Amino acid sequence: MTEQAKTIHFMINDQPVEAREGWTVLETARQYGIHIPTLCYHEAVEPSGGCRLCVVELREGNWSKVVISCMYPVQEGINIYTESDRVNNVRRWVLEMLLAECPASTEIRALAAKYGVNGTRFPSKNPEEQCMLCGLCVRVCREVVGVSAITTIGRGVHKFVGAPYDKPSEACVACGSCVTICPTGAMRARLDRVRGSGHHSHHSANKA
Ligand code: SF4
Ligand code: FES
Repeated sequence: MTEQAKTIHFMINDQPVEAREGWTVLETARQYGIHIPTLCYHEAVEPSGGCRLCVVELREGNWSKVVISCMYPVQEGINIYTESDRVNNVRRWVLEMLLAECPASTEIRALAAKYGVNGTRFPSKNPEEQCMLCGLCVRVCREVVGVSAITTIGRGVHKFVGAPYDKPSEACVACGSCVTICPTGAMRARLDRVRGSGHHSHHSANKA
């Protein structure tokens, strides 16, 4: 952010807001304490736009579209709505999809319930699944920790998050950043596998 960065004026929920050029709608909303729910976003890593929970409505006269607020750059004069019917419908649809994708996640069930979503019309592939494949664990490991101990493996229903080649990861420094950043609770169980059962870190204090 340079000192010359332009100030952008626009509206969120009919309230005038100011942002720096290059900010996203989500970043601006957070500056003003306007809540937009997110799952795959974290300020420490690059946004991926994967989960779509953070959708907002952009209105222009009698034309409107739904945009992904964690990716959408601010523009002069736009009108953003964070709680419109259209937004709430998309959000509920996203939450229903997530309930099917990771039905075993207590965190996702609680979040869905908060938005009045207590069941899903969509079939679930695995009732035990907790991971929504948001990729936050992979991104924090690569971008912040800088070791790339985690990756996504395979594709489609076989795709899951684990160590590269699904072997214990020698690269893992057992920092726990992936557990902290995981929005669904899935990483708690997976970390042991990523660290590898035979992999004892130097940080381990409880070795007999
Ligand atoms: S383990 Fe957690 S952080 Fe990693 S992809 Fe799955 S839900 Fe996202
Ligand atoms: S939080 Fe924006 S798409 Fe997931």
